[in-house]
Amino acid sequence: MSEIFRPYERLVEITVLGKTLEVPEKNTVLRAFQYISPETIPYGRFCWNQECQYCKITCQLPDDDEARPMLACKFHVVTGMVIIELAPELVWCLRSKLVVSPGSSAGRAAPAIPSSTLAATQED
Ligand code: FES
Repeated sequence: MSEIFRPYERLVEITVLGKTLEVPEKNTVLRAFQYISPETIPYGRFCWNQECQYCKITCQLPDDDEARPMLACKFHVVTGMVIIELAPELVWCLRSKLVVSPGSSAGRAAPAIPSSTLAATQED
């Protein structure tokens, strides 16, 4: 599966809806999501070429003053980036990876996936 990803030498930390994850550097955010969830992202309704907008995220970059919207299929992973919003298709594809199990001692915040967002996604 490594040929799916652009060559990388290390994993970098990003935060997605409050959960810290390690993903391959030098890859797009959508490819990083595929690394996290290889069983769902390839089957999502993603065009992978900046047309469908199903990969929209809102992200706070370490050197930026405010969060901004971007396309996960276009933007590359940046160490320390904090993704605070995901398009419904991404929420649906990543839902099982962003749930913190009860009693987890990781000290990381639970993801803020509104149940209404999940319900709306499931009806699509
Ligand atoms: S996957 Fe279609 S715009 Fe990003």
